Amino acid sequence: MYPELQKEIATYEQRTPKSKESYERNLKRIPLGVASNYRAYDPYPIFVREGHGGHFRDLDGNDYIDHNLCFGANFAGHCHPAVMKAVEKCLTTGTIFGMPLDLEWQLAEEICARFPIEMLRFGSTGTEATMHAIRLARAVTGRNKLIKFEGTYHGAHDSVLVSVKPHAPEFGPVSSPTPVAVGLGVLPSTVESVAVATFNDLESVERCFRQNPGEVAAAIIEPIMMNVGLCMPRPGFLEGLRQICTRNGALLIFDEVKTGAKLCWGGASEYFGVKPDMICLAKSIGGGLPLSAFGADSSVMQLIAERKVFHGGTPNTNPVSMAAGLANFREVLTRENYAHVEKLSERLASGYSRTTEKVGLEAYVVRAGANGALMLFAEEIRNYRDWIAIDEDLWRHYWFGMVNRGVMPQPHW
Ligand SMILES: Cc1ncc(COP(=O)(O)O)c(C=O)c1O
Repeated sequence: MYPELQKEIATYEQRTPKSKESYERNLKRIPLGVASNYRAYDPYPIFVREGHGGHFRDLDGNDYIDHNLCFGANFAGHCHPAVMKAVEKCLTTGTIFGMPLDLEWQLAEEICARFPIEMLRFGSTGTEATMHAIRLARAVTGRNKLIKFEGTYHGAHDSVLVSVKPHAPEFGPVSSPTPVAVGLGVLPSTVESVAVATFNDLESVERCFRQNPGEVAAAIIEPIMMNVGLCMPRPGFLEGLRQICTRNGALLIFDEVKTGAKLCWGGASEYFGVKPDMICLAKSIGGGLPLSAFGADSSVMQLIAERKVFHGGTPNTNPVSMAAGLANFREVLTRENYAHVEKLSERLASGYSRTTEKVGLEAYVVRAGANGALMLFAEEIRNYRDWIAIDEDLWRHYWFGMVNRGVMPQPHW
């Protein structure tokens, strides 16, 4: 470990003793001391007390500019007044019914107006959205297999807990990655049903289809891979993927859980000009409340209407999340606000670029809409294999250095 990193970690521990105390209490009852594995890191994670706008405060009272915003789930910022007003109204009129609401068609109209889908179903998490979308794709095509890209995260259900962050030597060659389960408990038959391709490599997608003729129901992709900082699709990649899926009779699923509300008004389809067959939305669509959706053309969604494919969920369309989502779409996710955020994002990214140049760091800054990352590489990464070459201690030095100076630059992982 670099001595400078050691110093930053010591400062972190001096600044956050209350987080450490709570973490130790959590550890006794909660595995890893966190409610989601992505929140765990050494020596212990920061525990939050409250947040407002673009800032949050930890248990020790330290203030942070929050560029993490819940792994991209809170584009609106903490306690956005329009969202809070909508939520507060529900708090005295009922928070969960398990019955339909008048808010549903209103929010569905808002979403279908900007994403290329005709019908949708709501849920609470991105995991649900991708799980139901994949099942629906299997039903529509009558096929069982799924193509996913190495290094992408699409949620915590078995079909996509394959090759998320695999290691050598299990992961095989980059041109033909071996599917690797994320951990124990994922059915071997599920792993066998997933063909893994390499991001930005159309030949690896063709290979998946060649090796599974007539068997692939869908390819699921994050149009910008964000589980590795930020990896942009190369020009032509998404267009090529679209063509390959069509040619092979498989559906193309855009997992827009992160890109949907943070990229631009119409998400990745508008940004890249590529139309998928299905779209999964979550995170920032709820304005800070749990809300997700998956949608497609009526011909695909019809299978749910015909009761051939099941979809359910007790908290689906609870009034609090729906009211928050509607206020978010109508008052926060507007074209004017996206134009404003674009300017802020550009300013922030050029500031980062100037600083990295000034200090002579081998790094580049990449951004798209409100998404961005400092990438500690000499050259732009193309895929997961490029990303794993990162100098982890240099990354941790940067991350703890920023956090100690009151900036949460992005999630630790
Ligand atoms: C691209 C992507 N898809 C799906 C998910 C799963 O969403 P959730 O954590 O809401 O289940 C995530 C979560 O980080 C994600 O980044």
